[in-house]
Amino acid sequence: MGRRPKWFRKKHRTSLNIHQKLIPDVAARHPKPVALFTPLKIRDITLRNRVCVSPMCQYSCDDGFATDWHLIHLGSRAVGGAALVMVEASAVEARGRITPGDMGI
Ligand SMILES: Cc1cc2nc3c(=O)[nH]c(=O)nc-3n(C[C@H](O)[C@H](O)[C@H](O)COP(=O)(O)O)c2cc1C
Repeated sequence: MGRRPKWFRKKHRTSLNIHQKLIPDVAARHPKPVALFTPLKIRDITLRNRVCVSPMCQYSCDDGFATDWHLIHLGSRAVGGAALVMVEASAVEARGRITPGDMGI
């Protein structure tokens, strides 16, 4: 495959930069952006890439409230470049939680 057309490079410049910043060794071998690093539009929201963090139960809530652990755990994923970070299972009432350490709403 040849070089990507100019309009594509212009449209995905940010993705290219993220691609090169996040995984420089891979970018060096594959200068063209992989689909993972291209934007994804879902209705009114455009994710800057397709890296999404699945919800993961952390069993670290305090009476249903998120703690510093959540700030660091989810925050570091967001700072690391994931376009979408999902919080864990969040029960509408305390008796619906899987464990006492689960999140409430
Ligand atoms: C609310 C919620 C909480 C989840 N918690 C966990 C978890 O603690 N551990 C885990 O391995 N998967 C958990 N999952 C499942 C993962 O998020 C993910 O959907 C699963 O690993 C399948 O990944 P895939 O859809 O990319 O194949 C949870 C899913 C949801 C919806």
